[in-house]
Amino acid sequence: MASENSNKFPSFIYGTAWKEDATTDLVIKAVSAGFSAIDTANQPRHYQEHLVGKALLKLAGKGINREGLFLQSKFTPADGHDQRIPYDPSVNLTTQVRQSFESTLKNLHTDYLDSYLLHGPYSQPGLGDEDWEVWRAIEEIYNTGKAGVIGISNVNIMQLEILTEKAEVRPMVVQNRCFANRGWDREVREFCKANRIVYEGFSLLTANPFVLQNPEVRSIARDLGKTPEQVVFRFSLQAGMIPLTGTTSEQHMKEDLQVTDFKLRDGDVQLIEAITG
Ligand SMILES: NC(=O)c1ccc[n+]([C@@H]2O[C@H](COP(=O)([O-])OP(=O)(O)OC[C@H]3O[C@@H](n4cnc5c(N)ncnc54)[C@H](OP(=O)(O)O)[C@@H]3O)[C@@H](O)[C@H]2O)c1
Repeated sequence: MASENSNKFPSFIYGTAWKEDATTDLVIKAVSAGFSAIDTANQPRHYQEHLVGKALLKLAGKGINREGLFLQSKFTPADGHDQRIPYDPSVNLTTQVRQSFESTLKNLHTDYLDSYLLHGPYSQPGLGDEDWEVWRAIEEIYNTGKAGVIGISNVNIMQLEILTEKAEVRPMVVQNRCFANRGWDREVREFCKANRIVYEGFSLLTANPFVLQNPEVRSIARDLGKTPEQVVFRFSLQAGMIPLTGTTSEQHMKEDLQVTDFKLRDGDVQLIEAITG
């Protein structure tokens, strides 16, 4: 059951968005390279969750079992889908979440997830009735033990504060896009740290090309014999994040995982944290 697995959060997560037909092959390569955590979503527009499941079956055939992996997926509200909605959008939201979650379990050939996220709130800038109904449905899944931890993605600080204050089961994970020119999501990260919420960062490279070109970052990388991309991922670890990567290259898979093998000086972490453009 999920409860046995909920505390084995990985230090790096392999993301499966936008991989289409290559999903199965890339997940097998990522796990073979050393990733144990896989992020997906029941959102056919961007993720082929069933092809992640196909990879899991093949990996099981090679002796890599479900228990050794950390699986995370998401409930996506109807307006985040194209015509391929993996639940009946005419039923109430509680039922939509239940249907989506059951379909995720089927796609992934499992009876539990290590982590389950609301892909994004319905309301802006705070939370509305729809968000609360969906969160309660996610809490219910957590209470059955079928999700080790629950959380929310694409969330702003106001929404996170309200959810943490008022939810019966507080969010345990946040997954957000990290823009360097917005302080790498500093307010949300600091709130997560203070409230023992795991912070997962995505678009660390793609949202911040100027950081990879920054002369000081390149000099730090050169001195360490690492690439600027490795320096950014290492920075994210030392800043308290769990990074996501969706690399399609076996070489980059290895390089991404190697960021646990070296350390940046505190001054370098502060320097990268302060880069705004
Ligand atoms: N919750 C959400 O709404 C949301 C939104 C977006 C993404 N995500 C999750 O986050 C995952 C990652 O998405 P992302 O936006 O961070 O990144 P991404 O779109 O997967 O892109 C990663 C980019 O970085 C490059 N890269 C990775 N490691 C590298 C290295 N060591 N050296 C050089 N280049 C490297 C990759 O190129 P190569 O392929 O050539 O290595 C690729 O261009 C997604 O798959 C998904 O699971 C979630």
